[in-house]
Amino acid sequence: MQDLELLNNTFELYMKKGKEAKDKGKFSLAKRNFMLAGETMMQIAKISQGKLKEARLDRARRIVELSERIGEEKEKKKTDSEEEDDDVKKWQQAEIPNVHFDDVAGLDDVKKAIKIRMINPVLYPDKYKLYNKKTGGGVLLYGPPGTGKTMIAKAIACEAKAKFYAVKGSDIVSKWVGESEKNINSLFAEANKQDRAIIFIDEMDSLLGKRGVDTHNDKRVNEFLQQIDGFSGKNPNLLLLGATNRPWDIDTAATRSGRFSQKIYIPLPDEEARRFILKKSMKNVPVAKDFDIEKIVKQTEMYSGADLEELCDRAKDEPLLKAIETDKVVEVTNKDFENVLAIFPPSVTEKEIKQFEEYNNDIESLLKKKKS
Ligand SMILES: Nc1ncnc2c1ncn2[C@@H]1O[C@H](COP(=O)(O)OP(=O)(O)OP(=O)(O)O)[C@@H](O)[C@H]1O
Ligand SMILES: [Mg+2]
Repeated sequence: MQDLELLNNTFELYMKKGKEAKDKGKFSLAKRNFMLAGETMMQIAKISQGKLKEARLDRARRIVELSERIGEEKEKKKTDSEEEDDDVKKWQQAEIPNVHFDDVAGLDDVKKAIKIRMINPVLYPDKYKLYNKKTGGGVLLYGPPGTGKTMIAKAIACEAKAKFYAVKGSDIVSKWVGESEKNINSLFAEANKQDRAIIFIDEMDSLLGKRGVDTHNDKRVNEFLQQIDGFSGKNPNLLLLGATNRPWDIDTAATRSGRFSQKIYIPLPDEEARRFILKKSMKNVPVAKDFDIEKIVKQTEMYSGADLEELCDRAKDEPLLKAIETDKVVEVTNKDFENVLAIFPPSVTEKEIKQFEEYNNDIESLLKKKKS
């Protein structure tokens, strides 16, 4: 039993490392970790019995296959111009997302601010004119990873009935050589053609980093700001939205009036929001009679929305495997959650949260100074 626990922990660790490496584009590291995870699952299968053994063998095989495919993806890397063509095609197919404000847990103040600033001006332009209310300018969403920034961005587009053009700062930077400014220009031009559109720039810090450190960055920031200025203000139905985990790294010129002038903090979910996300993840899942979701709400104070979803997903693993083995419904219990909680800490640290709090305090004192 002890062996099994150790092997399970080792397996989780390799999978986590593999996923992280894959997300960062470190394919050979990802491949190696997935391969090790597959081998560990194979060892777990060897000490298992019956259908559980089969299910685990199958899982080990699938993980090894996945690691092999990572290698292929790298080899098939496209040329820059092929990638540009793909981007333009993708932009031409931009759609209105199907994520509503009601799907986003908590964040009531954030939703209200966004409604006033971004949604109502495009839905009720006459009313805004009547009250001579200022509109335009972009919004920057910032906060720890996995708190729903991308999700809210999609919900804004959905509520405003706007087509959603999403780009990642790091993707733009990696292609920002030679002709690829044209590509960005075509993104703005394409979005500008629509009745209503949102350009969402994720990872804004990698695109609009502070100037004065690196000349490539400075050139890029200047060019991008020029493009923003060229479009913003002229078309009230083209909205700009950015997101970042590192707001302190963004050049202050990017957050000047008419650009990403409003900054909105997206914090970790509070109790009510955690309850909402946990309930949604466990909806229609067979749980034990004494299953107490409130206990999990209390146990997950620092967990992000994305963490909570992963927690629920992992807690279902063991009951599911047992259900396959016994061909009976095996209910999820609080113990299943506790087993996962013991090896799955929150992805955001207290130190990181402190950094956000300090940044927020700085903004507030800056605003107070401006007012006085
Ligand atoms: N407030 C929330 N309400 C409902 N679901 C949430 C919430 N926050 C996170 N989630 C869940 O977590 C997933 C990941 O969230 P999302 O990608 O929007 O986070 P993010 O803040 O953009 O993270 P990152 O900074 O890493 O890009 C979402 O798809 C959603 O399922
Ligand atoms: Mg995101």
